[in-house]
Amino acid sequence: MKIKNSENSLVTSEWVEYIRNINTEYALSTGRTKKFKLDVFGCQMNERDSETIAGMLTDMGYEEVFGDDYADIIVFVTCCVRENAEEKIYGHIGALSKECEEKGTIIVACGCMMQQPHVVEKIKNSYRHVKIVFGTHNVHTFPELLYRYITQKKRVFEVWEKEDRIIEDLPVKRTEKHKAWISIILGCNNFCTYCIVPHVRGRERSRKMEDILAEIRELAQDGCKEITLLGQNVNSYGNDLGEKDLFAKLLYAIEEIDGIKRVRFTTSHPKDLSDSLIDAMKNCKKVCNHLHLPFQAGSNRILKLMNRKYTKEHYLALVEKIKAAIPDIALSTDIIVGFPGETEEDFEETLDVVRKVQFDSAFMFIYSPRKGTPAAKLEQTTPSEVIGQRFKRLADLQTEIATSLAKRFEGKTVEVLVDGPSKQNPEMMSGRTRDNRLVNFKAEGVEKGAFVDVEIIRAGAFWLEGRGGKKRG
Ligand code: SAH
Ligand code: SF4
Ligand code: F3S
Repeated sequence: MKIKNSENSLVTSEWVEYIRNINTEYALSTGRTKKFKLDVFGCQMNERDSETIAGMLTDMGYEEVFGDDYADIIVFVTCCVRENAEEKIYGHIGALSKECEEKGTIIVACGCMMQQPHVVEKIKNSYRHVKIVFGTHNVHTFPELLYRYITQKKRVFEVWEKEDRIIEDLPVKRTEKHKAWISIILGCNNFCTYCIVPHVRGRERSRKMEDILAEIRELAQDGCKEITLLGQNVNSYGNDLGEKDLFAKLLYAIEEIDGIKRVRFTTSHPKDLSDSLIDAMKNCKKVCNHLHLPFQAGSNRILKLMNRKYTKEHYLALVEKIKAAIPDIALSTDIIVGFPGETEEDFEETLDVVRKVQFDSAFMFIYSPRKGTPAAKLEQTTPSEVIGQRFKRLADLQTEIATSLAKRFEGKTVEVLVDGPSKQNPEMMSGRTRDNRLVNFKAEGVEKGAFVDVEIIRAGAFWLEGRGGKKRG
């Protein structure tokens, strides 16, 4: 792997211009614009990186297509957080080999999976139709790499081993107009023992507050109503800039930006959720009454093995504090089942946290060993059937809790920011409440990006059903 940094490459915009000129000539001589397609996996960090990749490609003169439409370039933005994510991605990439040979499509693979040398080797040797590979630290060099491939027709592999300074002002093609992702801190310093993210996303680097605020102001002027601040641990925002409690200060500063109506953030690590952040959530009217607070496991023994740096008691006390400060808060979490050596007693502690906290929703995962992480060296003594049964018990309990919590919304009217037609039922519209509940509802003349009042007629564990979206204001 190369250790490079952005000091020794041309600025992105110059490479963008070289390719735009090539594509302009192509369009003039053929009457056709070249097309690109993205296949994105993983978390919101990848969603946000994909918007930068789409922005660069658009500036280079490519047009985005979706679904089965033909594309001259297909970019896979990959995730390696669990083995099943990687397998799915290999499957998607592998399925294209014949089509690429026949049509000359340029396949690009980037994102977290590519930060692992063994993956790059495998792509080099067994996925020869992949022409360009880059990693999470050199997304901004994509135009240069594409230029090299187009002009030299040789496969290009360039993955930087280390994180670089943050590059601001890269092009961006946002997926939505009414809501936007904003990265505020990149990387992670926590090294939970099961997790690959710090190994593939580097150390924490916070963006400057003025750059974040300028981005949000611009979005607001463009009609954006809801923003989600992103970081593996947003609570560490500013630590590397030598400032304490900067995340709370950022929330107060965003509160002053006209046009933004809702502010969300993810993820908060329980070990660093400060009182001043809880105060900021309470005091800032735009900050939504929803908190994603992963607890991962209920057993203190397992939490220690996971290097989570808090106990079950600390987590439960924190939840009490948040509920006392913000009584209508909705809580969501991440839970891992089957960490190496998890006993029935350990697992019971996880169920106990779920019962005590009463989460509105939970993402539940079966532990997946990740090469290079400390937990991957621990012996797994729990049989996989037992882990499967535990997973089902946990999922059933959580569904029961989420269903009973949701029932209180039946007959109530909620404020929904409309996202567009529903995925579950395309005849309905869909959107989210302030506390992040998914609402599907029947209504005439309601547009994406509008705030509407919806009367809830049925409430389930995963979404609410409503009718009559009345426009607000
Ligand atoms: N930074 C965030 C999200 C990290 S990845 C956080 O700390 O919460 C999202 C979730 O994937 C994690 O919260 C964890 O529950 C899960 N996860 C991470 N590594 C995993 C692994 N090796 N096996 C199973 N689940 C994992
Ligand atoms: Fe992974 Fe832990 Fe960092 Fe989250 S906080 S990204 S789980 S190492
Ligand atoms: Fe996956 Fe990378 Fe996110 S490993 S979960 S895409 S930070």
